[in-house]
Amino acid sequence: MNSGLILLRRLGLESPRLWYRGINLGDASNIVRWRSDPQVYRYYRSPGPISIHRHLEWFSSEYCGNPSRAEFIILEKNSHRPIGFAGIYTEDSKDAELGYTIGECSARGRGFATETLGTLVSSFSTLGFSSFFLEIHPKNNASIRVAQKCGFSLSGHTALGFQRHTLGLLQ
Ligand SMILES: CC(C)(COP(=O)(O)OP(=O)(O)OC[C@H]1O[C@@H](n2cnc3c(N)ncnc32)[C@H](O)[C@@H]1OP(=O)(O)O)[C@@H](O)C(=O)NCCC(=O)NCCS
Repeated sequence: MNSGLILLRRLGLESPRLWYRGINLGDASNIVRWRSDPQVYRYYRSPGPISIHRHLEWFSSEYCGNPSRAEFIILEKNSHRPIGFAGIYTEDSKDAELGYTIGECSARGRGFATETLGTLVSSFSTLGFSSFFLEIHPKNNASIRVAQKCGFSLSGHTALGFQRHTLGLLQ
């Protein structure tokens, strides 16, 4: 639980080419469309499409009042176009999981995920966490490369066989 996350949801984040705005109900159709694309979900922990009903249920019962997580829509500044989503989830005050998805295929391969992960790290590193981690499917080479470019190192494997990549923070 981290009250800083609730504040950052409201304030949003910014990087040279991108804005990051806290998700709201109006983002449901884009999130469901991206999240239901096999190119996107194939390397997720729960691979498969999601329904708008399931998303709205998650938003109201698991996300909205949950101070342990913050999710952002990624917007390209040039076009104001939403291109994906990213966020942070923490079960304790020490370690936080980060995640990112560039949902629009035309926006991939342009360094946006790397810019996003770097922004999440710099924005959340003042909130008192000891480390950030990513859980990445072993075949998701593009995401593994993004993690490496942002300074994360392979630190282990999860029970599901995902790679855990960790970035320790100086306290
Ligand atoms: C993985 C994903 C986030 C990458 O987004 P992106 O904006 O294209 O990433 P970037 O452009 O910042 O960097 C991608 C890097 O991976 C490399 N790459 C791309 N495809 C690759 C592949 N199949 N094998 C190895 N490297 C690959 C790129 O060349 C680039 O590295 P470089 O800068 O050294 O050339 C995006 O494809 C996506 O959202 N996929 C679906 C959801 C997902 O997998 N999310 C991550 C869950 S952990």
